[in-house]
Amino acid sequence: MAGEIITIQVGQCGNQIGKHFWLQLAKEHGIDKDGQGITNNEEVRDDDTNPFFKLNDSNRYTPRALMLDLEPSAIQDVQNTFPGVFNPRNTWISPEELGAGNSWSKGYDYGLANQETFMNMIDREIDATENFEGFQLLHSVAGGTGSGLGSSLLEAISDSYPKKFLTTYSVFPSDESEVVIQPYNTILTLRRLEENSDASIVFDNNALLNLTSRVFRDPYTSYLHTNQLISATMSAITNPIRFPSYMYNSLPSIFSTLVPTPELHFLVPAFTPFTSDYVSGGKEPKNNTAYDVLLDLIDGSSSLVSNTIDNPTYYNVLCSLVGAVEQNDVLRAIIKAQQRLQFAPWSFSSVHVNVGRRSPYLSAQTHHNHINGLMLANTSAITSLFTKTCKTFDKIFSKGAFLNTFRDGKMFQNGWDEFAESRQVVQDLTEEYLAAEQETYLDGVLLEEENMVGRHDGRLDADGDDNIV
Ligand code: GTP
Repeated sequence: MAGEIITIQVGQCGNQIGKHFWLQLAKEHGIDKDGQGITNNEEVRDDDTNPFFKLNDSNRYTPRALMLDLEPSAIQDVQNTFPGVFNPRNTWISPEELGAGNSWSKGYDYGLANQETFMNMIDREIDATENFEGFQLLHSVAGGTGSGLGSSLLEAISDSYPKKFLTTYSVFPSDESEVVIQPYNTILTLRRLEENSDASIVFDNNALLNLTSRVFRDPYTSYLHTNQLISATMSAITNPIRFPSYMYNSLPSIFSTLVPTPELHFLVPAFTPFTSDYVSGGKEPKNNTAYDVLLDLIDGSSSLVSNTIDNPTYYNVLCSLVGAVEQNDVLRAIIKAQQRLQFAPWSFSSVHVNVGRRSPYLSAQTHHNHINGLMLANTSAITSLFTKTCKTFDKIFSKGAFLNTFRDGKMFQNGWDEFAESRQVVQDLTEEYLAAEQETYLDGVLLEEENMVGRHDGRLDADGDDNIV
């Protein structure tokens, strides 16, 4: 059985995404908005609710979640959506209720000042687990709370629980962003993502807004739309944990397939098709094949991060499909993918494909030939986001613009070194991704057998090579 995962939602964006994530999970596990399960007899269930929910004394499913914010509205919205379901002791709203005013520094200082409270909340939640596996932090990198308070939490968690898996779902701002200091917040947060998280799934609001206008055919895009795209993706990533089979049923088994070295842990998600089971107002499920879905995933149009790099290099790719999948379609698609995607010379040049189980509570269950798919890619395409962040940062930092917001911050009492250091971390990260395109990248890294994650599943991939799962 998979271990338990604690979700930590920080700031407006983190809590709004969290709301849609729990709505999707409740739907997929037959749980009402008051926490009542259609069945709570774990014996008759063939899903596994335990990683994300605990069954409380009154037989209600409670999300293993912490909700933190400096102002109340986003958390109140989650609480109103699921009355009485979230543990009130896992909720923290700053008494001032003022938000961080988009300042990373304010958020970070609130995080430091309340660190003990947060760590006590986390410890208490871990006490309610038997086989605790790790964390997922949901936040935006550009506001003040999700980025700043989120950064201080990332540091504290990786310090206190270095052996537990720490993943993040991190939303990057759109180019049309109205807040001038967002590049500062983003650079400072990227440093913590690089240094403290084990795997970060990246979303960018540019790509999300473009996708929503296609998926919803609605010119008036809103966070309600973008957040459903994110929650669909999160549902697909966690599917093998919640509907377990023998592959990819834990955070380490999913992410070790994708993360070759500790630095290269920024993952680009894609999902298709966004049917009505995942997004309200989405397309009705139609017959399709695993071949169609896999090719759509690799062509880039369903990516949730925009890319401006031609022919990016791929290091690792994991796809996950649910529906009636024909093995032959998968093999044909893998061959096509190997021709179309340019893999790093040292990588396995293979697209790993997991076939998951669809929730019995989703209507597409009745469409026997309908398939939904997720792709998580570790690719040099992500460097376009890092480069853009550095450029927008340089523009304002070189002129010393808008630094007043940070002047009172504890991190900046002795000057602006933290900015220059964080900028350097992002530069080094970009260079690491580019160095990984070279054949020699892994030279000197000992691939001892105990470092190889996964096991042999006895099957061959399209090249006739052994398949490691
Ligand atoms: P403060 O408002 O400063 O206290 O910090 P915060 O972390 O609560 O701010 P917020 O989460 O609003 O972060 C701002 C950034 O996140 C901007 O780039 C917004 O476009 C983006 N954002 C805010 N809410 C959402 C959301 O629900 N979905 C998505 N996709 N982006 C969001």
